Amino acid sequence: MIATSLINLSYLIGALAFVWGLRLLSSPDSARRGNTLAAIGMAIAIIATMVQPMAGASNNYGWIMGGMLVGGVVGMASAKKIQMTDMPQMVSIFNGLGGACATVLAMVELMHFYNGTQALGSGQLVIVLLALLIGAISFTGSLLAFAKLQGLVWDNSLTLPKHNLINNVMFIGLIGLTVYLFIQGFSAGVGLAIGVLVLALIYGFSFVIPIGGADMPVVISLLNSFTGLSAAAAGLIYNNQIMLVGGILVGASGTILTVLMCQAMNRSLWSVLLGGFGGGAAAKGQESGDQVAKTVTLNDAAIQLFYSNSVMFVPGYGLAVAQAQKALKELDDLLEANGVDVTYAIHPVAGRMPGHMNVLLAEADVPYPKLKDLDDVNAALPSTDIVVVVGANDVVNPAAKDDPGSPIYGMPVLNVWEAKHVIVLKRSMSPGYAGIQNQLFFHDKTKMLFGDAKDSLQKIVSEVKTL
Ligand code: TAP
Repeated sequence: MIATSLINLSYLIGALAFVWGLRLLSSPDSARRGNTLAAIGMAIAIIATMVQPMAGASNNYGWIMGGMLVGGVVGMASAKKIQMTDMPQMVSIFNGLGGACATVLAMVELMHFYNGTQALGSGQLVIVLLALLIGAISFTGSLLAFAKLQGLVWDNSLTLPKHNLINNVMFIGLIGLTVYLFIQGFSAGVGLAIGVLVLALIYGFSFVIPIGGADMPVVISLLNSFTGLSAAAAGLIYNNQIMLVGGILVGASGTILTVLMCQAMNRSLWSVLLGGFGGGAAAKGQESGDQVAKTVTLNDAAIQLFYSNSVMFVPGYGLAVAQAQKALKELDDLLEANGVDVTYAIHPVAGRMPGHMNVLLAEADVPYPKLKDLDDVNAALPSTDIVVVVGANDVVNPAAKDDPGSPIYGMPVLNVWEAKHVIVLKRSMSPGYAGIQNQLFFHDKTKMLFGDAKDSLQKIVSEVKTL
């Protein structure tokens, strides 16, 4: 009795740690603490589950420890090695493994059911089938998302003619077969369950095929919420409250994140899932006709920045690619020392994953209050002397405001052209993620500084030091 109360208390502490950890994750200042707190909550949950009196469980301690050891070593090694730009792949592969776990658990329960060693009521059978379906879709979907982001699979190489129609038919077939499996109950036999498993694995894979590599963060977030739901279903199967709570938290946060990302790009989830934006999208507006972009020299850029009153940096995906955050902070320090007011404009989907820019800038010790969000930035831009766009493109594209034919029309953007001057740091005139040209580069107020962002910033820093 006391043991059960202690275990329930541990679960409660674990659940509180998850919720509080999530809350702390909402700010870069406290995110590290949030992560640690949630990890402690998870450790408490695992220990409480392992000491729980369960028939036959003691025989499995070796397996459990072995699994934890292998998973812990692989997880820690890959987390240490991973580059910030490769983080979406990492999330995706970990997520896929979560889906695989739920699938294996569900399949084991079904095997016990069909060989007569365990009874499952209708409610339990529904939950097991849900864990099987959602976990399997999430597993293969996440594996393909990983392969696409890692550049192992070309975006359009696997797409079949009428692919979305095939997916819809497959989905309806999958649901129909699962309902049949449920109705047949024990008499369905394990063969049909394996059929559902195989079809769900194929569907997960096929569902991600048409989606452009650059849309993967949205899909990964959606698959993440699927994994959460399958883990919650597994929690119900084993009547384990902490697994249920953890699964629901992952499912809910994944869903909220998916919705927020779609809103920030002004796209419906449906249009993301149907593919066709970014990656293989037509490079509308690529033609710049006879327009010529003006350039600025390193020395001029340094002088303008050093003698201005206010400078706003706009970091984008290129900052992450170039790993230019420390050079940017060094420039910030030099300008601040000369009395320049320096701020950073953070667009909600700058980069390739939520919070990408915040994390990079926190890495370079940029104080959090200097980071301004979209509304504050747009209000401050008309009185800003110079905007420096560092490897950003779509998030500063005026087509989102004034070109109804543009694929990004309606997406909230940073109105950097309202500042007095704009300097853009990028390597070429290549488009960004949406595959479209950017009229900002030809704007009267804009001057381009071509080159790798880190290299350009380091050179500006050297120039500023000579002033
Ligand atoms: P992008 O529009 O992708 O533009 C990045 C720019 O960085 C490119 O034009 C590229 O030009 C430049 N670049 C690349 N490497 C560079 C380097 N080493 N040095 C200097 N510049 C470099 O990036 P953004 O403005 O951050 O916009 C993000 C896009 O991703 C949005 O369209 C958004 O909708 C999408 N997206 C974001 C998310 C999240 S949650 N962040 C999720 C899904 C989709 P060059 O090749 O000429 O250098």
